[in-house]
Amino acid sequence: MEKEMKNAVRRIGVLTSGGDAPGMNAAVRAVVRTALYRGIEVVGIRRGWHGLINADMFRMTTSDVSHIINKGGTILYTARSDEFRTEEGRKKAYNNCRLFGLDGIVAIGGDGTFSGALALSSEYPISVVGIPGTIDNDIGCSHYSIGYDTAANTAIEAIDKIRDTMQSHERCSVIEVMGHRAGNLALYVGIATGATAVLVPEEPWDFEEDVAEKIRSARISGRTHFMIIVAEGAKRKADGSLDNDVVGNGGAGYQVADLIKEELGLDTRVSVLGHMQRGGAPSARDRVTATNMGYYAVNLLAEGKTNRVVVRQDGVITDMDMTEGLKMKNQLSDYERAVVKTMTNGY
Ligand code: F6P
Repeated sequence: MEKEMKNAVRRIGVLTSGGDAPGMNAAVRAVVRTALYRGIEVVGIRRGWHGLINADMFRMTTSDVSHIINKGGTILYTARSDEFRTEEGRKKAYNNCRLFGLDGIVAIGGDGTFSGALALSSEYPISVVGIPGTIDNDIGCSHYSIGYDTAANTAIEAIDKIRDTMQSHERCSVIEVMGHRAGNLALYVGIATGATAVLVPEEPWDFEEDVAEKIRSARISGRTHFMIIVAEGAKRKADGSLDNDVVGNGGAGYQVADLIKEELGLDTRVSVLGHMQRGGAPSARDRVTATNMGYYAVNLLAEGKTNRVVVRQDGVITDMDMTEGLKMKNQLSDYERAVVKTMTNGY
């Protein structure tokens, strides 16, 4: 039975934007169920900001979010929208907010999603709250973003399988994981899989120092198979940077593997984990974090808050000003970098 609760909003929209992440559906479900519990109506906005511009919207009920907590992907679809970057585009979007009677929007995605939300709410009287969702976990204001745990476990499961055959054939394996500009996933997975070396976009790598030496010291210690984790955006120091068009789909991985073959004469294979890291049933951590954040986001809107982003800081779900949050840049954990440096010294 819905309780009679005082709400600052009557009807809210919910959307997912940017790269999808396992757990986004759990967040959408929590937004819908929390809102309906409070007597607030919910409108689903398909395809992110693009959908708001094109009125690709529909009323959501509990039946729309049944049996989705365990589903990867997003039932609201996602898309990136260049048009929303324009004032004209945001005007169209706001006109649809009025047409559908939206007082507020919960936007689930990354920094780009939040920038769009802020632009809309700075130009029009619509309240916005963000929920961090990206497998990169590179949203500076939150220690955790939905999808990260599931993506990491998907990668770890794949890498453990690759390790088996690399061990049998005494080969070197270069595994490329996602992370265009952020090495969080690569670092975390590198620790979890006991990698020989980990290459991240934040630290351009030197082949001798960051790869060859680590393989040699591992070999001297008796290792006869080697696992090199490479974030898709990792760049070589020597030639400055990878062209954008080689980022993703194995550009970085093959670049490292070619050098290992040429310089060390090792039998090497490349595995590009790619988009499988973005799918799959969300882990318990992602389901619970997403549900907690969706619940929190609706209550912020109901309490009349706006321009807030729900974050996880020091293990606690809280919220902060979105503008302040966007100023905070993703930093790789110094502690994890030190751990990787020690764990990959090969001795
Ligand atoms: O932002 C998440 C992410 O998966 C990145 O790790 C990756 O580089 C990018 O999205 C891929 O984007 P797309 O799915 O558009 O190819």
